[in-house]
Amino acid sequence: MATTPKNQPNNSCDVIILAAGKGSRLKSSLPKVLHPLLGKPLLGHVIQAALAVKPSKITVVVGHRKEQVIDYLNTLSLPCPIETVVQSPQLGTGHALQQVQAQITSLSDTVILLSGDVPLLTADSLQKLQATHQKTQAAITVLSAKVDNPTGYGRLLTKQGNNGQISCSGIVEEKDATNVQRKIQDVNAGVYAYHWPTVAPLLNKLSSDNAQKELYATDLIGLSTQINQTVSVCQLNNPDEMQGVNTRVDLARTQALFQQQINTQWMLAGVTIVDPSSTWIGPDVHIEPDVAIQPGSQLLGHCKIGQHTTIGAWSTLTNTTVGEQSTILQSVISDSTIGNHCQIGPFAHIRNQCELSNHVRLGNFVEAKATTIGEHSNAAHLSYLGNATLGSNVNMGAGSIIANYDPIRQVKHHSTIGDSSKVGCNSVLVAPANIGNGSCIAAGSVITETVKDDDLAIARSRQKNITHWVSRQSNTTKASDNSSALST
Ligand code: UD1
Ligand code: CA
Repeated sequence: MATTPKNQPNNSCDVIILAAGKGSRLKSSLPKVLHPLLGKPLLGHVIQAALAVKPSKITVVVGHRKEQVIDYLNTLSLPCPIETVVQSPQLGTGHALQQVQAQITSLSDTVILLSGDVPLLTADSLQKLQATHQKTQAAITVLSAKVDNPTGYGRLLTKQGNNGQISCSGIVEEKDATNVQRKIQDVNAGVYAYHWPTVAPLLNKLSSDNAQKELYATDLIGLSTQINQTVSVCQLNNPDEMQGVNTRVDLARTQALFQQQINTQWMLAGVTIVDPSSTWIGPDVHIEPDVAIQPGSQLLGHCKIGQHTTIGAWSTLTNTTVGEQSTILQSVISDSTIGNHCQIGPFAHIRNQCELSNHVRLGNFVEAKATTIGEHSNAAHLSYLGNATLGSNVNMGAGSIIANYDPIRQVKHHSTIGDSSKVGCNSVLVAPANIGNGSCIAAGSVITETVKDDDLAIARSRQKNITHWVSRQSNTTKASDNSSALST
């Protein structure tokens, strides 16, 4: 996929991310590393963190459903090359590294190994790992944390040197540990810095003589110690960062930790979050001070929210920009831009590159799709606006619809409604509709022809009143009732 730079600077490093595993404990048809965490795949979070160490390139080991993982990688635009190595079958984390060694000829002396299922690591922690590794000149530096409940993690066998530096002589996996070892609370985050020229030759010494019959990357620590190489330990300040995702319970726990971290950051930056426990904000969202987020709201993907805007209650925004002093109430908006002073909802659905200028109002049960709307225009109730350009000061009456789909040719046609035009209630504008400026559409019209500036269009049958029809109906009914009564 990518090329390797020929002249790497001396302090350069490579990042390898393990993402080949099946993730069988998730019981999912989706590869584990593509499960979303606040709207972004686990692997996306790990890649984001990896950029903190300014890698020469990132190598992702793929295997299980590799096409899906590669498709995702191809959507990313990164400041460094990204390439993939295929591991098939998947015989353990050490086996994954063997595939890298076999398939990648050029790696920097420093290689940082990350797990595709450990998504909460921060840039600071990875830089600290890199700095500790450089300072200790170790063969391997292991990222670790002391936790209350070490269940499921590899346990570190550590000792403290005369200089106070903690070193590690081995890692024992939960399934291989003795009862005494299982009590160890220093656990392996699954993240390491390697001096690759020292570690690479050890890869073919790995053995699958263990409970899981796999080749463990963790055994590289014991192997390094055996050849008198130093293995140093870098302690995480916040053990939550090493939360790994093996089950859906882990996924929910990880998401809750991340939610708390992100919400706290925004509240400290001046955003009101009325109920942080029911508010979900993705990592690529930007929010200005004095925004208020009401309960039950989600902001996912690349959203930007301007000052003094209120989001929610119960709104979901994805890849959407909202200007200042707007209100979005109980609505779903994706891939769109909303201006300043707009009033959206309740129950509006805005999608597919809509662009709303300032002071636009889209009210209850209004759907807008691929539509541009000028300033001060309204569709306050029960409208569908599809593939259209509305000027400014347009009023779409309740129930007015743009019939944008041509089912015979199976295409969507574009419609235009000029400035200051008024579309009466329950009208249907059959696309491609062309409505001039300042024109008026009578309620209940089905418009199939161009309406010029300043014209009134009425396209409905004329009303006919039938005098005393109702009483005549009831007299007829009474007469027939009487006749049937007489006949019994
Ligand atoms: C691993 C560590 C454990 C550590 C924990 C931290 C080993 C043997 N154990 O255990 O010490 O505490 O992570 O989260 O490394 N993968 C591959 N190919 C494979 C197997 C796995 O690419 O053949 C990938 C997985 O997709 C995953 C990562 O490696 O992203 C870790 O694998 P996983 O099976 O989850 O390891 P753990 O049991 O969590
Ligand atoms: Ca794991």
